[in-house]
Amino acid sequence: MIESKPPGGLPGIENKPSAAGTRVDASPAVEKSWNTVRNPDVPRFLALFIFVLLGAGISSLAFPASPPIGRGVLPGGLLGFLAWLFYDGWQARRLLDWLGRLQKSSAALAATPLPARLPHFWREIAERMERLLRQQQRALQKQRLLTENLVDALQASPNGVIMLDAARGIEWMNLSASRHFGLDERHDVGQAITHLIRDPVFVACLASRDFANSINSIVLTSPCSNAHRPLRLSLRLCPYGADRLLLLSQDITQIEQAEAMRRDFIANVSHELRTPLTVLAGFVETLQTLPLGEDQRQDYLARMERHALRMQTLVADLLVLSRLEDSPPPGLAPWTPAHTLLAACAAEARALSELLARETKTKTHRLHFPETHGLGEIAGNAQELQSAFINLVGNAIRHTPPGSRVDVLWQNNADGSATFAVRDDGPGIAPEHLPRITERFYRVDSGLSRESGGTGLGLSIVKHVLQRHGATLDIDSAPGQGACFSATFPAARVRAQAALPPGAGPREA
Ligand SMILES: Nc1ncnc2c1ncn2[C@@H]1O[C@H](COP(=O)(O)OP(=O)(O)OP(=O)(O)O)[C@@H](O)[C@H]1O
Ligand SMILES: [Mg+2]
Repeated sequence: MIESKPPGGLPGIENKPSAAGTRVDASPAVEKSWNTVRNPDVPRFLALFIFVLLGAGISSLAFPASPPIGRGVLPGGLLGFLAWLFYDGWQARRLLDWLGRLQKSSAALAATPLPARLPHFWREIAERMERLLRQQQRALQKQRLLTENLVDALQASPNGVIMLDAARGIEWMNLSASRHFGLDERHDVGQAITHLIRDPVFVACLASRDFANSINSIVLTSPCSNAHRPLRLSLRLCPYGADRLLLLSQDITQIEQAEAMRRDFIANVSHELRTPLTVLAGFVETLQTLPLGEDQRQDYLARMERHALRMQTLVADLLVLSRLEDSPPPGLAPWTPAHTLLAACAAEARALSELLARETKTKTHRLHFPETHGLGEIAGNAQELQSAFINLVGNAIRHTPPGSRVDVLWQNNADGSATFAVRDDGPGIAPEHLPRITERFYRVDSGLSRESGGTGLGLSIVKHVLQRHGATLDIDSAPGQGACFSATFPAARVRAQAALPPGAGPREA
């Protein structure tokens, strides 16, 4: 009736009966007999005495002529004793049969009543046994529940847990461990761990038995890792019990990626600042040490100003990014008319194009903006949205040759969403750059970008702003075929007004 281990239980955890409690679950009948039957031997010996007496009596009545000792009473008493033995043995047999029925299942304890009309002695034994069994069953249930909760908790853990026996074979593993190492519980339990995890550092650590130093020291790439889903694991070995080991694994892919990003970020910022600072220091030294003519001095000062401005822009962009990361996403208000955002964008784009044309002594870009007031409204932070739109239009101006055509489009889609798009007919972007182009400091041509005063943070800011507004950024480009950056805002953030009137397409600015 007692199962040795609950299903799904942990190896090595036995269902020990609880030592606590003496009267936890006795039924009232059992409780009564427990208290009232003080000495079950008295009726038993009384029965024996009666049997012997009856045997002797019957014998003396059957053979009245025989002398009382030796011929009649003695064999009669002996027969009475044997009859009592037979009767007592039969009661013991009934008790054994009852016990056998109880042993068949744990439910039988409740369903199998005590044998009827058992003599006091055997009844007392039966009741005591039943009471003990009930206590043990209750303790087992408690233990089983605890074990099940423990297993559930371990299964819910995001960290992998593998229990290893003294021979370093797998005794048990949780789901995270199966996922981390690509193991299958059905086939791999019982296998030696070193057959499944062959990393040399791990194998050496296991062999050295120096588990105290394994804390955070074993970092390996999971066998399930691939280019699309990299998986880096930190392993820890903890000894427990009789020469057993707990192998804990933690997914540190994101931690490592964040650390790598942090390192890259610091390296990039330092690199971006180093160039203008070196140039500035060089010019300052030149101005201090060399007797320069006025024209040369002015030229140097103008260059110094350019580099100082570049550093200022870099710091400003970094602050914008950090503010975007730290502040909560904008709510569904206020509503800003799309044409207001586009008008501000058009004014800045024209100013930038003219500035570039003046600086490079070339022609301006051909800019086209939709000039209509019925485009609808958009909910969110107008300042952020404007800065994202200007970044995209600015890119189309700064990364295309002078005189290129730049179209800015606004489209209210059938599903209620709206798309802002900037299309140019410039050199376009090679496909290998597209997945990384919104990363901080990523440039297709870093030399050209720096020359044009770019920090490489513009698209990163755009991505953040769009993410905060629930919008998506699509980039469609190929070398020699221009580029189209489009931001699609969800219907919840768009209050569509009248459909685009005919003839409201792009017009030359
Ligand atoms: N319309 C475009 N056509 C071609 N290349 C582009 C276009 N837009 C962006 N790029 C490329 O993507 C890179 C990243 O753009 P991003 O806006 O992030 O940085 P940036 O323009 O160089 O500097 P800034 O931080 O001042 O915007 C640019 O350096 C450029 O090489
Ligand atoms: Mg840019």
